[in-house]
Amino acid sequence: MGMNVFVLTGAGVSAESGLGTFRDKDGVWTRYDLSEVATPEGFARDPAKVRAFYNARRANLAGAEPNAAHQALARLQAELAARGGRLFLCTQNVDDLHERGGASQVVHMHGELAVTRCHDCGAAWPDPTPLVPETVCPACASRGRARPHVVWFGEEPLFLDAIDDALAEADLFVAIGTSGAVYPAAGLVTQARAWGVRTCEINLEPSDNARAFDERRYGPATQVVPAWVEELLG
Ligand code: APR
Repeated sequence: MGMNVFVLTGAGVSAESGLGTFRDKDGVWTRYDLSEVATPEGFARDPAKVRAFYNARRANLAGAEPNAAHQALARLQAELAARGGRLFLCTQNVDDLHERGGASQVVHMHGELAVTRCHDCGAAWPDPTPLVPETVCPACASRGRARPHVVWFGEEPLFLDAIDDALAEADLFVAIGTSGAVYPAAGLVTQARAWGVRTCEINLEPSDNARAFDERRYGPATQVVPAWVEELLG
């Protein structure tokens, strides 16, 4: 029986692809008020401001390329499967760089930026183009209610049952490029420990919950992640 690895990634894994992180110096939340652009209340108050914020991020994503960390995780996923094991790749990121780096079945617990969703009926469809006010929902025909398929603060993250099931079966839990500031993602390491799963943090610097990890490796993801994958695959 092969090895089951659960990897949780955050914005740090896409930082070297040019996508901003949230809480670093010059991070996204140092330049925008998240209550205005990443909450249902903000969308109700000023939908145009929310659309502009996500349109800027869609444009940024269109110009970005996956990096060596994304590619190393895709290699790990293929190799573990070949050995009868599994990589459960869960990401807080809404970019598609894991997929463009070769990974599949990526679990986007905070949604996906290049997907548009109807705020009324929940129908969602791939859409890398700018959000506009006159969109008509193809499912419920409501007009002007298109939003990014991104989980906002105050909304429930996606796939929580599948995430719990995968964590319970994991031999190893590894958090990569996340500050450990946002729950429930930040609580997964504690859940892993409670279930006797070995834990490792890979980050540029110690995260808010660094002490919870059995092992810690620090440095840029494009250097530390490929080296870690190489070592794990032996
Ligand atoms: N290599 C590895 N780690 C890096 C790099 C890098 N090149 N650059 C930055 N980091 C680390 C930072 O040290 C930080 O700990 O990535 C982490 C990024 O933390 P955040 O900006 O808080 O991003 P994240 O943890 O993904 O945020 C979680 O918060 O805003 C919400 O929904 C949003 O998914 C996001 C969630």
